Order: sequence, then C-alpha cells, then structure tokens
Amino acid sequence: MEISRSVPRCTTTTPGARMPCSLQALVPTKARQPRRLTCKATGGRVFFFFYVLLGLDAQRGRAAIAAPIQAPDLGNCNPPDLPNTAPDTNCCLTSGSGIGIIDFVLPPASSAPLRVRPAAHLADAEYERAVALMKQLPGDDPRSFEQHRAYCDGAYDQVGFPDLEIQVHNCWLFFPWHRLYLYFHERILGKLIGDDTFALPFWNWDAPAGMTLPAIYANRSSPLYNERRDPAHLQPFPVDLDYNKIDVIIPTDEQIDQNLNIMYRQMVSGAKKTQLFMGQPYRAGDQPDPGAGSVENVPHGTMHTWTGDPAQPNSEDMGNFYSAARDPIFFAHHGNIDRLWHVWRGLRPGNADFADADWLDTAFLFYDEEARPVRVRVRDCLDPAAMGYAYQDVGLPWLKAKPANRSRRTPAHAAGALPATLRETVRVKVTRPQVSRSDKEKEEAEEVLIIEGIQVVDHFKFVKFDVLVNVPESGGDGASGYCAGSVAMTPHMIGTNKKKGSMKTVARFGVCDLMDNIGADGDKMVVVSLVPRCGGELVTIGGVSIGYTK
Ligand code: C2O
Repeated sequence: MEISRSVPRCTTTTPGARMPCSLQALVPTKARQPRRLTCKATGGRVFFFFYVLLGLDAQRGRAAIAAPIQAPDLGNCNPPDLPNTAPDTNCCLTSGSGIGIIDFVLPPASSAPLRVRPAAHLADAEYERAVALMKQLPGDDPRSFEQHRAYCDGAYDQVGFPDLEIQVHNCWLFFPWHRLYLYFHERILGKLIGDDTFALPFWNWDAPAGMTLPAIYANRSSPLYNERRDPAHLQPFPVDLDYNKIDVIIPTDEQIDQNLNIMYRQMVSGAKKTQLFMGQPYRAGDQPDPGAGSVENVPHGTMHTWTGDPAQPNSEDMGNFYSAARDPIFFAHHGNIDRLWHVWRGLRPGNADFADADWLDTAFLFYDEEARPVRVRVRDCLDPAAMGYAYQDVGLPWLKAKPANRSRRTPAHAAGALPATLRETVRVKVTRPQVSRSDKEKEEAEEVLIIEGIQVVDHFKFVKFDVLVNVPESGGDGASGYCAGSVAMTPHMIGTNKKKGSMKTVARFGVCDLMDNIGADGDKMVVVSLVPRCGGELVTIGGVSIGYTK
C-alpha cells in the first residue's frame, strides 16, 4: 500500500505501524514517532461507493424479556486458555463450593459516608499496609490477593446454560459488577488493618493532576508495585486516553487537552442515553458481548492497554482481563471507572438507570471480609452513599472540554465496502433516516451510529478502531473533531470448555452533537470512516447504520 505524505496517519506513517499492534509497541524509537492526533483519519485508496441502508437498532427486534442472569455455581469453573501462558487457575475460587451463601444487605443508613475514596496521587500509606497484608493471606483464602478474582475471564457458566459463559464486560453488567468487586476488595482491606473507614484510592486519569501513573504504584519496594507494566509509562509520561499502542510525543498540554476532549465525548456528548453509557442488555440465555457503553471502550480499554507490559505475551498484566487484577493499580483504575458511573448518574438524573428487572435482579457472588460467599444483586449497588462510600471531590475539568466546531468541508470519498476485514480504512456512505430534527426531538431520541456485526477472531490481542463521520480527505490536525468514538477492546479469553470462536459484538455511538459540530445535521447522507488502529486484521465489520435511542 502506498503511503501518502499529505495525510498524516495514525498507523501507517512508520514501518513499525504496519506491524501487528503487539509489535508496534516494541518499536524502541519513541522519540522518532511522528506526532499524531486522536482519531485522525487514515487515507485510503478509493474503491467504490457503497450504501448501507436502514437504521435498524438491534434491540428493536429483541425477543420478549428473558430473565436475569443468576449467580454462578462456584463449583463449576473453567479457567481461561491462553497462548504462551501457564493456565491461571486463579480465576476460580478454590474454596468455592458456594456452601453457606448469604444474601447481601446494605449497611444501616448513616448521614456521612464511612469511606471516602481519595485520588491515588493524594493517597496515604495505609493502603500499602493493607495490600501487603492481603498478599500475605494464605493462597486458599478466598480473600487473598490471588484468590478473589473469580469470574475474571468468563470462567463461570450461566446457570442453566452450560454453553454460555457469564461475561461481565461488553454489556450492562460492566459497571455494577466492577463496583461490587471493588466494594468487597475495599472491605477486605479495611478488615485486615482493622479500619472500617479505609477507602480505596482511585486513579484520577480524567484530570490533569492524575494523568500519569500514580507515584504510589511505581515504588519498587511497595506492595503496590508490579513489574508487568509498560516501562515507558512512568512519571512524568502523560497518559493517552486514546492509546493506540504507540506513544505519540506531543507537548503535555496538548495531550491533556486531547484527554479532556475525549472525556467530554465519552461522558457527555456521546453518552446521553442510558444504554449508550451503560452498555447493552444481557439476560439469561443471551450470547455474551451484546455491546459496551462509551466509557468501557475508552478510556477503560485504552488505559488497560496503556498500563500493561507490551513485552509480555498477552500484554500482561493490565492489557488482558485474565491478568489485570494481579496489578494493584487495577483497583485504582476501576475506582475511577466506578466514580465516573456515579458522576454520570449525577449529570443525567432523568435517565440514570435501567428500570429493567432483568438488570436489577442480576445476581453475582463475592466473598466478604469474613470469607463468606455473598449473593449480591445489581439493585443493591446503585448508590455508593447507601453502600457507605463516596469519592473525594477533585472536580470534573472535562465538563467544559467540548471540542470546537469543525468547518463544513467536503468529506473524503467512500472507499471499500462492508462486510470487510479492517485491514485498512473503510469508508461507507450511510443514510440518516431523519435530518434537521428539532431540539425537542433530539432530546427525546438520540441519533445513534451503529456498527453492526463486529467480529473479532481469537481475541488475544488488543483491538481498536476509530469511527469518524465526514472527515475531510486532508483530515489534518482537526480530525479528532470528526470522531464519534472508538471500539477499544481489551482481550478476554474464553473458558476452556467453550468452543473457541470469534467474539461478536455491536458498537453504538451517540452522534447528535457530533452532527451539529461538523455541520452535517441537514445531510441525508454521511460518510463514515472505520479506521483500524490496533489489530484491524482480526476484526470484521458487518455494516453501518443510523438509528435512534430514547
Ligand atoms: Cu473487568 Cu477493566 O475489566
């Protein structure tokens, strides 16, 4: 493929960028990497026009209500099967007979939260002491650092559906499951140091002060240290929330501004409706991975990969779900994810929750600080205050980071056709069923760009592609302004008893604000570019359409 000099590209300007993602990250010449910007359009050869018709929301034709997913049977666990890696049986709880399961009860209501979680860059040494004690627990204690990682990789089947794993990612269980996981982790740590006000730190990567690897995790003699991290990403190297497995050297303030713009998109403009933020419904008997919410892709997935060690066979530890929780920083990363869920609910009080019983009654099992198995439902974890914790108020600097409007320019020509493997950029014309809707209509129903039939073969590698609307041929530095979002998936394995196969999912992006910003709100047709950033050769896309979500 020829490389155009006129169009700056994310992944095709250097020889390294043509390598699979896992190798790109090994290219040692960071300083020589060209400057790149978020979500920049990749030039592509012109193929032929292709029209994707219709705006069918996959949820619309859904069969009538199934039932909530039940707590797993702990006696039936299948550890993941990974290439080049010893089986990690710690996905299964060895003492997991599930005998004596108790039901979770919220603590008695109190006026002040018991535990206030601090930003990790402001945390104190008590946390280190607690983690050191947790790491000293005997390996068969379900509260031990190694042990309490059940479910980590689809290790449990759905009760009653032996062919279906329970998958807590890429669906509406993402936020609740991780909230509960942290909640019990925190309570166990507090118990170990005899302090029931102990609160986990969170990695405040959405604010400039937190946009580096927090120092407490980088001290080699600390129990919070982990050697399987990217050695290039130590302080003061800034985080890149749009990480494509290549370090882009740009001035730190520019990186910070980009990060804040991304936060705005993922939390505000692209997350106006519950499913767009929380992820798609996932009920008993459903195939896993119906679709992630905005934040689960970016920054959740990108920051997992940013943290992991590219020299490990599967980007361990954080670059892979099976190993992620071996790194203590996992809990700080997910502390921020959890905080953002809480923040989002505050920003959108009108549509904060699914009122769906299948969501509310989904049940999980965790071990508590007394090592008792506890059955907890989603409805028990909707309100951090009721659970006895809160987050330190560190502000939301991204709330005003709305990207500037883009001038209306001629979009790049459509090129390629779907279905296709994302070996290179595919651009397709997509019809918008409605144009120039009123503010009220836009408020009621968000316009949603739907990328259907996403299939990832052998999900052993980080996969990322960006989705841009009407980006001009010479996207230049402003291309990120045309970005609807990205699909960024941290690898997750399939339990050994499952038939290996491709992972299938759907991505949805709220684009009302984007259409306005790029001057396309009156257009019947837009050009959507799918730009592979990592592992494009592993990804097939079925089609692109536009629908509406209330
Ligand atoms: Cu269970 Cu960050 O993923």
